[in-house]
Amino acid sequence: MRVLGVETSCDECSVAVVEEGRRIMSMETLTQTAIHARFSGVVPEVASRAHAEMILPVASAALERSGCSLDDIDLVAVTNRPGLSGSLTVGLAFAKALALSRSIPFVAVDHIVAHAYAVQLDGASPVPVGYPYITLLVSGGHTVIAVSRDVETLEVLGGTIDDACGEAFDKVASFLDLEYPGGPAIERLATGGDAEAFAFPTARLGRRARPYDVSFSGLKTAVIHQRERFRRPGAADSAANVAASFQKSAIDVLVDRVGAAVRSTGITTVAAGGGVAANGYLRERLRSLPAVASILPPGELCVDNGAMVAGLGYHMYMRNGPSSADTGVRARVPLFRSS
Ligand code: KG4
Ligand code: ZN
Repeated sequence: MRVLGVETSCDECSVAVVEEGRRIMSMETLTQTAIHARFSGVVPEVASRAHAEMILPVASAALERSGCSLDDIDLVAVTNRPGLSGSLTVGLAFAKALALSRSIPFVAVDHIVAHAYAVQLDGASPVPVGYPYITLLVSGGHTVIAVSRDVETLEVLGGTIDDACGEAFDKVASFLDLEYPGGPAIERLATGGDAEAFAFPTARLGRRARPYDVSFSGLKTAVIHQRERFRRPGAADSAANVAASFQKSAIDVLVDRVGAAVRSTGITTVAAGGGVAANGYLRERLRSLPAVASILPPGELCVDNGAMVAGLGYHMYMRNGPSSADTGVRARVPLFRSS
């Protein structure tokens, strides 16, 4: 079965053709980063308008690259939750119209569950990854630590109680006058810095927090307003030192929680996803967790992408059949706390 997967939940417009839920035949992803850069963040109305312009050319390019014609597509899968309402609506309307006009089924999937599924694609792992595994999903909008029990079941262990991890990278980058998005810029700057120059605090969580929860707002405040308090004697107050010390604090807390999840569940496979999972320091730390097999997809499958949607959509269709024609979008999904 060949599935066309459509992803438009935030600022990536991505369409892929995937066979039997795993083999990526083609994928086209157009990021809107350059369009949003001058606002230092994603502007919802600008994003949905850009998706409306991009979706047809992106879908046509994906189809052409796969060597398939529309006649070869058996199912359309699309993200309908969570995300920006207008952006989700563009993808959902496109997917429904395509399915209706071709008399083929469509299936709507959850974006976070799709991220957790991404490691099952052939571009991420040469063989299917056995369940269960610990999923660490870290992006500009989400920070989730969960157990993936099967393709559709994510048991959330914890997440951020305030800012998403990528959002903290973006805010600190903006404070340091780096370009948007800030994650890659911080990582580049950090390579020339001393990660021990500032002893930034790790999150202090309230009593209502779950054991695997994280917080980034205190760290962000320490970097922006209280730097001097945390500077080690003799260390230079340079942007590179701030970037390296911030990156270490933000990533170490995530790796600490993942390590705790591995120990308490006995699950020894860890999968990462989301834009921050492209971070070299995070990847290195996850790879060196003792007795753990880390599955770290290439960057194009960490960020928002149509292949994970097509892959998950295949399994959801096989299990539950098509989605109904009156399926709408949902900006928020209560199970997953997003920032
Ligand atoms: O998954 P993604 O492309 O979009 C969503 O937010 O859904 O993630 C984007 C986020 C941004 O906050 C960006 O700064 C961060 O991922 N990011 C990184 C790196 N590359 C992207 N953060 C740290 N290090 C990176 N190399
Ligand atoms: Zn995402």
